[in-house]
Amino acid sequence: MTLHHIEERLGNPARRIAAVRAEIADTGTYRHTTRELVFGARVAWRNANRCIGRLYWHSLSVRDRRDVRDAEEVAEASADHLREATRDGRIRALITVFAPDTPQRPGPRIWNEQLIRYAGYAGPDGGVTGDPRNVGLTAAARGLGWPGGPGTPFDVLPLVIEDAGAGPRWFALPEDAVLEVELTHPEHPWWHALGLRWHAVPALANMCLEIGGVCYPAAPFNGWYMGTEIGARNLADTDRYDLLPFIAERLGLDTSTDRSLWKDRALVELNRSVLHSFDRAGVTVTDHHTESRRFLTHLGREERKGRPVGADWSWIVPPISGSATPVFHRTFETVERTPAYVHHPEALDRARGVAPRCPADPAAPPRPSGLV
Ligand code: ARG
Repeated sequence: MTLHHIEERLGNPARRIAAVRAEIADTGTYRHTTRELVFGARVAWRNANRCIGRLYWHSLSVRDRRDVRDAEEVAEASADHLREATRDGRIRALITVFAPDTPQRPGPRIWNEQLIRYAGYAGPDGGVTGDPRNVGLTAAARGLGWPGGPGTPFDVLPLVIEDAGAGPRWFALPEDAVLEVELTHPEHPWWHALGLRWHAVPALANMCLEIGGVCYPAAPFNGWYMGTEIGARNLADTDRYDLLPFIAERLGLDTSTDRSLWKDRALVELNRSVLHSFDRAGVTVTDHHTESRRFLTHLGREERKGRPVGADWSWIVPPISGSATPVFHRTFETVERTPAYVHHPEALDRARGVAPRCPADPAAPPRPSGLV
């Protein structure tokens, strides 16, 4: 498309840029139009080097809640986000954008790394009930007065939300906002009794959406799961649920030697169980073979449009059966571009339950300026 065509469709950008400059001179920041926000959120997805699911970047639905900064309202709108994204299992890609950082005021912050996460309760013996990844946030929520859940390995954490000026507060997620899938297996009837489950919607909640120099620190967004994220990582990693030895034993595999490939075999059955269970429950899920092919379709499409696609090989190649997927057999280059979803170091600290350092601390990160 030539510049002439762009101008015909969208008008001359010079006018908009002049208006933005004037607004920045006046207020220190500027407000995106709805179209800019929608386009920015979609292109931020398109620019995500680590995401294999970008073929659908253009279908992202955007809820504009820039009017919301109060923690309780963020919690309510986040529960609505989950309901609207879940739709009984017909999951759709959705982002809700809350108030941005401005020079006058930081926007709200969701401490949880995802809207739905399972608690990790550290025991006295160093063991953890639940998801070890969330031990810090679980302790922080308890420190804020959350009484804790029933103590199962899959207790849904409350949201911990901070709005400008006020400290963080916790808010329980309403049950009807959280869809979960119980894991069964296509051949082993006993599998169900293991009591394994996972939540249907992965909704990243602590990445900043950065568009045109403006940072939206609370902009939860979700797609749908690729089975391996659950079956080969969340439930299998040794620093997460670490279930391979447990599953292998129940499958009657020889765990006395690595060379029986008991880990590999347990991984495959766990991943079959995830895909089978999501399918049976009518919950959208993709598999790594399909998604690898789609990613290459995406790449081809973008390249034909003259847009280079950045990608991080180590994130794109699935954690099981890499070489059986086409993405393994080529290289990619990362490309850092904005708009983008970015991890701020303080946000990573918050997700570990560590409050940001006090502003008087000389080592503290600079206060948000509104423009990044
Ligand atoms: N890997 C993360 C998890 O297992 C989710 C990341 C986003 N995934 C996605 N399919 N949109 O919870």
